[in-house]
Amino acid sequence: MFGTSIGPTGDIPGFLRPETAQGMFMNFRRMLDYVGGRMPFAAAQIGSAYRNEIAPRNGLVRVREFTMAEIEHFVNPLDKSHPKFDSIASDRLTLFPAVNQVTDGKTIFPTVGEAVRTGIIGNETLAYFMARTARFLLSVGVDHTGLRFRQHLRTEMAHYASDCWDAEILMASGWVECVGHADRACYDLEVHAKATKVSLDASVPLTEPVSERVFACKPQKGVLGKKHRGDARALIQHLESLEVAAAEALRDGLAAGPVSLVVDGKEFQLEPSEVTFFESSRMVHEKKFTPTVIEPSFGIGRIMTGIFEHCFYVRPDDADRTVFRFPPIVAPYKVALLPLDGRIPGHFVAALRSSLTARGVSVVIDESGASIGRRYARVDEIGVPFAVTVDHDTLVDHAVTVRERDSTDQLRVRLDQAPALLEQLCAGSIEWASPEAVAFSVVPSLPSAVSGSASGRLSLTIEGVDRPRGRFSRPSVPIL
Ligand code: GLY
Repeated sequence: MFGTSIGPTGDIPGFLRPETAQGMFMNFRRMLDYVGGRMPFAAAQIGSAYRNEIAPRNGLVRVREFTMAEIEHFVNPLDKSHPKFDSIASDRLTLFPAVNQVTDGKTIFPTVGEAVRTGIIGNETLAYFMARTARFLLSVGVDHTGLRFRQHLRTEMAHYASDCWDAEILMASGWVECVGHADRACYDLEVHAKATKVSLDASVPLTEPVSERVFACKPQKGVLGKKHRGDARALIQHLESLEVAAAEALRDGLAAGPVSLVVDGKEFQLEPSEVTFFESSRMVHEKKFTPTVIEPSFGIGRIMTGIFEHCFYVRPDDADRTVFRFPPIVAPYKVALLPLDGRIPGHFVAALRSSLTARGVSVVIDESGASIGRRYARVDEIGVPFAVTVDHDTLVDHAVTVRERDSTDQLRVRLDQAPALLEQLCAGSIEWASPEAVAFSVVPSLPSAVSGSASGRLSLTIEGVDRPRGRFSRPSVPIL
């Protein structure tokens, strides 16, 4: 943990968390109650974490304070299947297993189903989260050629992990670990349960109840209380909580004479007369276990650095024109609205802005006097995926030009249909240049929703927006 000092005099020691995970482990009992005891279940948290890095460097890659997002997925250690595994089983992942790192140095590209079947990835749940992470990273702009999953070598595995695969993104500084996927087994819950003496077990119902042998230790509380006074309580609790195998081992040890026990760091000498043992059986209706934790852990700053590096490019025909090819889902602005010049009536842009905003599509408006080419270049530079130009023809045909950033291709689209097209393009429900998008291209006649004429009063409904601000009149009535 990252030690610090708190308070005006700075003499109160404090410790900053190195991961968000522990808060979720501490709340495991409450969360299990909340889900009605059903397994598996998961919790997720995003927040700041701190590590006392010796050499912070590389922008957001190695820093002392960073944002991380973690999922703790709790499963039965005897059943690490995942109910949605089939949905990702045919995805392919670039894997760099530990054995390849110390032999041929080559990656492999199996389907997730093959990787689990052949034991390369240890279980379905770990593999499920790796596949979902890959889908996520690709969807936010990481290029598949610069993404791989590297398995930790035994020598580098964290103390809590039984298997670990890092999603690594290729950056200027090399392959950078951005999302860890660890099978933390039962380590954390066992350690918390031991320290707090609160059971962090879960259970699954058995199809048939089974008879279970009970063999337990019964301490002579009065005798032990007199002998050990204040320390007796810890010893008695320890003896009463012994599992069958430990109770049998103690019985065997005491058969040969006094036994020395260490409980909470204190040594006790236990005489054979101070305990008895009893044996019985009971019907058991559920199987108890300490859950295994499968943990995807996302370094947000590193992922953002990966997105910036993978999305940046320079137009091949002009070294001065830089572009971020951000997918719409992460582009801060989705659409740029560009009135061709100062003679374009303001209500066209205002209506488009209202309609796009109402659809949840963020808009930037550039009304500067710069040439349209210069304004396209400006919005390319900040990664705006689509631009809409309102020109003088718009006054006549009620259509606008929609331009896609990377291809620079354009479609002429009815003004009243442009918001619906852009909403679907930004949501990814249709692709640019797909037949569905091209079907939006302009028809020669005036749209049926338009009435009036370019010279007179004209009212027009922007499709799909029922609010009053989706209607506007031109030229005398303000739009909003
Ligand atoms: N919780 C995983 C990590 O902190 O790296």
